[in-house]
Parts: sequence; C-alpha cells; structure tokens
Amino acid sequence: MSKQITQLTGGAFLAWPEMMNRLLGELTNRFHADISNKQVFGDIVYLPEWNQEGVPYWCKTAFLSPAKMTFDSIGEAAAALKEIQRNWGPYQFTQFRRATLIQEKLPYINLKVKQFPCTIPESPIGVWTLLDQNTMLFSPNTSSTFPGGHLELQEDHENPPSRAYLKIQEAIIRCASGVYPGISKPLPKPGERCLDAGACPGGWTWVLRQLGATVVAIDRSPLVPSLMEDSSVTFMKHDAFTLKPEELGAFDWIFSDVICYPERLYEWVTMWLDSGLVKNMICTIKMQGETDWNLIQQFADIPGSKIQHLNYNKHELTWFHLV
Ligand SMILES: C[S@@+](CC[C@H](N)C(=O)[O-])C[C@H]1O[C@@H](n2cnc3c(N)ncnc32)[C@H](O)[C@@H]1O
Repeated sequence: MSKQITQLTGGAFLAWPEMMNRLLGELTNRFHADISNKQVFGDIVYLPEWNQEGVPYWCKTAFLSPAKMTFDSIGEAAAALKEIQRNWGPYQFTQFRRATLIQEKLPYINLKVKQFPCTIPESPIGVWTLLDQNTMLFSPNTSSTFPGGHLELQEDHENPPSRAYLKIQEAIIRCASGVYPGISKPLPKPGERCLDAGACPGGWTWVLRQLGATVVAIDRSPLVPSLMEDSSVTFMKHDAFTLKPEELGAFDWIFSDVICYPERLYEWVTMWLDSGLVKNMICTIKMQGETDWNLIQQFADIPGSKIQHLNYNKHELTWFHLV
C-alpha cells in the first residue's frame, strides 16, 4: 500500500469536549441538516451531505474541505501534509503516540498553553486527525486560526476572584486575534471605561483592571474586598437591566455575564446599541432549556456581531459586537 488521498464530500465539525449533543442540536435545529448519515470520530462529526455556508457556533473548528489519507509510515503522512501547506494543527482521539511523531515532523506551530494577554497568529491553518494507524482525516481549510480550534490559557490559582476570568481572557484574546478577520482588533486599553454587568465576585472586573481599564461593576452582591477598595472600580448594587444608558454615560466596552434569559439580554444590548453610548460589547448568552434559535439569530443579525462558544464557556455562547 502507498499513500492515497481521497477528497470527501460534505463537512466535518469538531465539537467541544462533552458538547457533541449541543453541536448535533445546532446542526439539526439551526441548520436543519439531516444528521442521519453522520459518522462520529472522537469529537468530530462528519456529514457527507453537508453543503451549507456557515459554521456552527458549537464547533471548535470545521473541516471545510475534508479529505481522507491512507498511508504506510509516519514520514509519508507528514510529507503528504507538508506538500499541501505549511500550517497544520492536530486534533487526536486515538493513536496519540503516532500522532505526536507525525506532528513533530511537520513545520513548527506553537501548541503551548498561552499566557494572557497574547494574540494568536491569524494565518490559516489546516487540521488533521488519525482515525487509525494508517488512516487520517484532514482538511487544509478550517474555520479557526487556532491549531485544532484549541486555546488553553495559563491559569492563575491565587489572584482572580473566580474562574470566570478565563472566559473574558479568552474572549479578549479572540478579539485581539481577529475574531473579525480583516477588521479591528480591539483590546480594552488603560483608561478605557468599561461596564461589567453581573460582576460578582469580580473575575471579569479583575481582568479589566489588569489591563488598566476603569470599571463600573454592577451586581446585586458585592465584589471581593480588593476590588471594592480599588479606586478605579465603581461598584453599583443594582439590577443591571433597569439602569438606563443615560444614567451611566458612555462606555468603551460593555460586558455582561449576567445569568438571565437570552430575551432579557437581547432587549438590554439593543437598548445600549440604540443609545449610541457604547462601542464594543461582549456578553455571555446563557442557554436555558431548549435553545431558541430564532432569538440567537436576532443576536447574529445585529450588524457587526459574531457568536462563538468559547473553550471556557460552559452551556453558554459568547456574543461579540466590536467596532
Ligand atoms: C456567572 S456570575 C458572574 C461572574 C463574574 N463575571 C465573575 O467573573 O466573577 C453571574 C452574576 O450575575 C448576577 N446577576 C444576576 N442577575 C442580575 C441582574 N439583573 N443585574 C445584575 N447582576 C445580576 C448574579 O448576582 C451573579 O453574581
């Protein structure tokens, strides 16, 4: 046997760990895709008849031009990928040792855990996975510039008031790394004015302060003492949704991690955008029960919007609005 490459029809999507049901639900209910012919390889779902534009929000990365390769040796597999292009990110669910040896023969890409703040190279990258010892599923074109769609951050177990800090760090890295290809790459800057809605105990406010921004933090419960005492943090004990933009003034950034129905969040973000008093917004849309895809579409239809499930999201999507 020698190397053989077969172009496949359709598309394949890499689900977030333990989120395959979310991805399948989105493929069925948002895209109305027929998933009866699906094939599953680890966290990858392959749909041979997929021919739609668009990438599911619950997908880490998409195999946009899937192909299968059969090969004899590690060297042969790596050479075949290199012949196609330079950049390849791995996703593996089996044959881990063999996969590592193949990746080592490919041009270097940084697969290390990242330290916030940072940016991720925006160059296109392919994805590959071993199905068995001699078979690979791969795609030169993908939907993410992160290797295998993966972003893992160095954790700080001492300073942040909650683990939620990872979620905003990831969201900010995605902005800085071109969530909107070719458009702006904003990052909250020193002195910029931020609103953090649903801020308690303060993970997001803590990250924003690390970046030097000033923060108006709103919650029914207070933040940790170090943030309550910070002169660049104004804490308001209030329902974030009943404060009017004119009462709070203009913001460079508005963030929300409030646990609420998506309908309530939608009303609130449109109120702020209509006020003209905010530039960038990043909000977590909490999924409660059955997803209302019409409502998620309403978020997506707001000009300048982007929606993505993040590595550090739980049963949530993150909505970005960047200018
Ligand atoms: C997931 S926690 C936020 C965690 C926070 N982002 C962090 O980094 O530590 C959600 C917060 O939303 C707050 N919350 C719920 N409804 C709210 C509302 N209407 N207005 C303000 N805060 C609200 C809750 O009190 C809770 O502290």
